[in-house]
Amino acid sequence: MPLPVCYLNGGYLALADARVSPLDRAFLFGDAVYEVLPVYAGRPFRLREHLDRLARSLDGIRMAPPLTHPAWAAICAELIRRNGGGDQYLYLQISRGAEFGRNHAWPDGLAPTIFAYATALDAPPERLLAEGVAAVTAADTRWARRDIKSTALLANVLLKRIAVDAGAYETILLENGFLTEGSSTTVHIVERGRILTPPNGTHILPGTTRDVVLELAAGLGMPAESTPVSEARLRGADEIWLAFSTRGVLAVTQLDHAAVGAGVPGPHFRRMHAAFEAYIRELAPTPPL
Ligand SMILES: Cc1ncc(COP(=O)(O)O)c(C=O)c1O
Repeated sequence: MPLPVCYLNGGYLALADARVSPLDRAFLFGDAVYEVLPVYAGRPFRLREHLDRLARSLDGIRMAPPLTHPAWAAICAELIRRNGGGDQYLYLQISRGAEFGRNHAWPDGLAPTIFAYATALDAPPERLLAEGVAAVTAADTRWARRDIKSTALLANVLLKRIAVDAGAYETILLENGFLTEGSSTTVHIVERGRILTPPNGTHILPGTTRDVVLELAAGLGMPAESTPVSEARLRGADEIWLAFSTRGVLAVTQLDHAAVGAGVPGPHFRRMHAAFEAYIRELAPTPPL
């Protein structure tokens, strides 16, 4: 459930009272970028990495960053405080703004619409960790700049719905015989003890959780590599993981109705999950930016 207070264009107000113009380009064109980041015990997790990605997304749509990192950090801190602290996740969005009319080629000088709100981050149900989740595969039908975290998510929402209709948690996407990512997650596989995940590029979102997984793997001495993953390797994997901000890592234990490995979260997953939890605790006393 969303928490009651949001930030909109310089002020804090009740989310229920927040209003933007129907001429906003986010509404008309999906002309906006966003971030989602978790907050643990009142502290934003990997804030710098999220703000760096937001800046890259803005650059990708030819917008100058309207706020500095410290300005965003102050907004996040205030939003978290006004919503009671604890575990939350924040949604930050910048749209190109509204003009009086509708032009594909935007006019210069529009004032961006800057919006942020918070949602309570509940602990994952025990069952998700104990049993893992099911995923189905589908062809990746998205545009060619998936590295931009754009609000134009029509393909992603249709792809996610394929999973929901199949009683699964995520749709894992394939393109030209290779894994790209999930509809809203990064995918890692484990093959004979090696963690493999597709390299960053324009074909996937550079996941912030993906990078945490690779860093933690290095610290644990678990071999890990960014490398193209074929459909055959995905289907033959000993373990498959989903990585994403609001849940960290989750094990996929069924792919297209077939068991992944032994059909339960594997030993590498359990080790990575424990390391992830420890990392969150380790960061708790440090400044968020
Ligand atoms: C398409 C897509 N890939 C990957 C991710 C995971 O990114 P992150 O780990 O930064 O949340 C997301 C997150 O929402 C996503 O939408």
